[in-house]
Amino acid sequence: MSAASKTNMSNETAELQVQGKSIELPVVVGSEGEVGIDISRLRAETRAVTIDNGFVNTASCFSGVTFLNGEEGVLKYRGYAIEELAEKSNFIEVAYLLIYGELPTITQLARFESSIKAGQETPEQVKQQIKLFPKDAHPMGVLSACLSSLSAYYPELLDQDLSADKKDRIIGQLVAQVRNLSAYFYRASQGKDFVNSDANLDYCTDFLNMMFEGQGKIDPEVAKALNVLLILHADHEQNCSASTVRLVGSSKANLYASISAGVGALWGPLHGGANQAVIEMLQEIDKDGGDYKKFLDKAKDKNDSFRLMGFGHRVYKNFDPRARIIKKACDTVLTKLDIKDPLLDIAKGLEEEALKDPYFVDRKLYPNVDFYSGIIYKALNIPTNMFTVMFALGRMPGWIAQWKEMIESPSMKIGRPRQIYTGETDLEYQAISDRK
Ligand SMILES: CC(C)(COP(=O)(O)OP(=O)(O)OC[C@H]1O[C@@H](n2cnc3c(N)ncnc32)[C@H](O)[C@@H]1OP(=O)(O)O)[C@@H](O)C(=O)NCCC(=O)NCCS
Repeated sequence: MSAASKTNMSNETAELQVQGKSIELPVVVGSEGEVGIDISRLRAETRAVTIDNGFVNTASCFSGVTFLNGEEGVLKYRGYAIEELAEKSNFIEVAYLLIYGELPTITQLARFESSIKAGQETPEQVKQQIKLFPKDAHPMGVLSACLSSLSAYYPELLDQDLSADKKDRIIGQLVAQVRNLSAYFYRASQGKDFVNSDANLDYCTDFLNMMFEGQGKIDPEVAKALNVLLILHADHEQNCSASTVRLVGSSKANLYASISAGVGALWGPLHGGANQAVIEMLQEIDKDGGDYKKFLDKAKDKNDSFRLMGFGHRVYKNFDPRARIIKKACDTVLTKLDIKDPLLDIAKGLEEEALKDPYFVDRKLYPNVDFYSGIIYKALNIPTNMFTVMFALGRMPGWIAQWKEMIESPSMKIGRPRQIYTGETDLEYQAISDRK
């Protein structure tokens, strides 16, 4: 059943008066009870548009992929609670769930794994391209560029209307390539040879092996921790990067171009880049003698642009369920690996203090997914500038699922917002010699 068909048209309508014109707008109710006002006829009937800075009140689509309730701290993928998936499932099974809509049978999972294996060969020229980037380039720029470059090598996967087979092929390939490209660039940045993917290893162990080969066997606890992190990052409905992927894909641009743009959106510190910013902030606090109260004061000071990184969320106004799981995983991983990280104590102290502070309480600012994830990545030896790439690795299935749902929807339209024009009107052209 499609996402739209699980939506109820309620008997209610919303009435709007605009400049003497009245319009009755249908009210729709989603499967988890959220209410929306359908304004599709608004401009045609009244010539008015809506304005919604930052899309705070705008649903851009009907979607059956991920549900989140920010007031109650609920997150579900395709109806399954994130807590249960993080405990019982693994990343590749969750990827299948998000992309294809249901938990796979043994046969479906085997087919999906085969498509990932079939797509794991990175073109030799792209491998060379990775080696040509400056070693200190930010890996998100490299990832975005290389994902886009893949389009050059698979012209048959650029069709506007991909057959089901080709769609499965490009999906498996992108899941494999985000792992390869991330690990390859890490190796190149360290001046080390690439380690090829090993088809006998599970996805997370394989990634860690491609990153750290030669440093001993991959600890299953480490691979397990990575599985949980990737599951928690796998989708988050219409966030900035998913909306970017949808918007680019809505022009019928190919999937490589759409995903590459999504990586660019994720890079920003207000989105996925926050995980890197959190660790840098904790390190700064540590260097400064561990006085986190000073940093809380800075975050509250309206004359200071500093924000408490890893705190606050557009949608979660209670707590971020992913942060709760990550905080626990962080304790477990550090204990199992016998690591004592002073940054964890600073993070916990900072959280405790912020959660008592009226500034954060009144604004409903809680730790988000990025607050503790960096401490785990650090324990896994992932360098700080790779943290956002780790987010991208986890988010790939979500981007693909959002894109696939959109292009398969019979009501897909190119995304094209309106504006309220506020510029000059009716100026007369002056020759350059007459301009002051
Ligand atoms: C995530 C984030 C971008 C959400 O932004 P938003 O929904 O547009 O919320 P706003 O920026 O309007 O913030 C609302 C209020 O809380 C304050 N606020 C929000 N996040 C804050 C933070 N991390 N530190 C200090 N103050 C913060 C804002 O200054 C604003 O205060 P005001 O009402 O006095 O003006 C924002 O909370 C943030 O910048 N967080 C830090 C970056 C981060 O961790 N991003 C990862 C998200 S998963």
